[in-house]
Amino acid sequence: MNQKKIKTAVIGVGMMGNSQIRNCLWKLPQYEVVAICDPYLPNLEACRAMFEERGLPVHCYTDHRDLLAREDCELINIVSPDYTHEEIACDCLKAGKHVRLEKPLAITPEGCVRILKCLEESKTVFQIGLELRYAAPTRKIREWQQRLGEVKMLTCCEFRPPFLKKTGAINDWIVQKRYSGGTLLEKNCHHFDLFNWIADAKPVCVYASGDGKTEYAHTDILDSAFVTVEYENGVRAMLSLCLFAPKKEQGSHLNELELGVLGSKGRMELRGDDVYVWNRADGAEEHWHYARENFEAHSDDIIPSMEELARCIREGGTPLTDIGAAVNSALVSFAAELSAEEHRIVYIRELEEKFGLRYHN
Ligand SMILES: NC(=O)c1ccc[n+]([C@@H]2O[C@H](COP(=O)([O-])OP(=O)(O)OC[C@H]3O[C@@H](n4cnc5c(N)ncnc54)[C@H](O)[C@@H]3O)[C@@H](O)[C@H]2O)c1
Repeated sequence: MNQKKIKTAVIGVGMMGNSQIRNCLWKLPQYEVVAICDPYLPNLEACRAMFEERGLPVHCYTDHRDLLAREDCELINIVSPDYTHEEIACDCLKAGKHVRLEKPLAITPEGCVRILKCLEESKTVFQIGLELRYAAPTRKIREWQQRLGEVKMLTCCEFRPPFLKKTGAINDWIVQKRYSGGTLLEKNCHHFDLFNWIADAKPVCVYASGDGKTEYAHTDILDSAFVTVEYENGVRAMLSLCLFAPKKEQGSHLNELELGVLGSKGRMELRGDDVYVWNRADGAEEHWHYARENFEAHSDDIIPSMEELARCIREGGTPLTDIGAAVNSALVSFAAELSAEEHRIVYIRELEEKFGLRYHN
């Protein structure tokens, strides 16, 4: 690979942006973080101090448009809140930059369409931060998937404590639907992406039932829901979500996530960092465990995604979580939010036709 470091800027240095610099970008020799941007001065200054402590130079900005005037940045890592993704991603793509954008793609279908258009014109490398696909346990699931014969059912259970408090340009943006797009987009686009990836077919329709009367009665997002997704190839997927559950166990950061895959020949489960597979014919069980090294903010999963991104930038190619994964997970999420709101089945076709946001094969 071309060894020249990829000069990178990070936009949004709150919880996740800060963590990605410390736990991922600084650990990877492929990258050099040359600039950071955040309009909220306490977070910007805290991040600047982190660079100073290490004796590293960094240019600081409060407006991403000023940062984009720099010519030396090749990659922009956008880690600002969900409501800013559309504008910032479009500006970065128009400036001809490679983009790593945190999930979700945007908080509205119209926003997704705008980003798509800008990407078509820029032809730069784009990766969405759906890093669960890069987690060692989910990769094991994909590797073992063929043992199950024809996949028929997917289950995902995320019962976890409420969102952490957010301090930044808009405090607690994450619990307000106008800033986050709602829980089933903000949180569960990750899980819908895993469903889409494993089902390997187009989602047809979504039914969601949920409310926000327990943890989020003071605001307008869901705190519990069941969501079913039907796929063209007959796979059915079911997500169970609860945001007011106590933490089950310490250890793996994936420990609140349980994923199940049932096929004609067997059953497989991910429980935290453990994967189990059972053969239907004889009940034989196999178990695989992943020894996680870094527990903070999904770093163990983000690092391989950033390694892949560097390869795509230097050698060409498309990331596993490309614009297609971003659009498809957002489509299921938008359908789920609408379904819960209107208490009805929502067809993906409806959204495609209404917004021109097409499912990517
Ligand atoms: N992939 C994952 O597992 C994962 C986990 C957590 C968060 N995230 C995503 O990361 C993003 C940030 O989340 P967070 O938890 O760090 O939130 P946060 O609120 O802790 O940090 C966001 C930061 O962005 C700043 N900001 C706001 N508007 C901005 C703008 N216009 N330009 C630049 N910076 C701006 C805020 O001031 C704040 O400092 C979100 O999109 C979220 O969905 C992803």
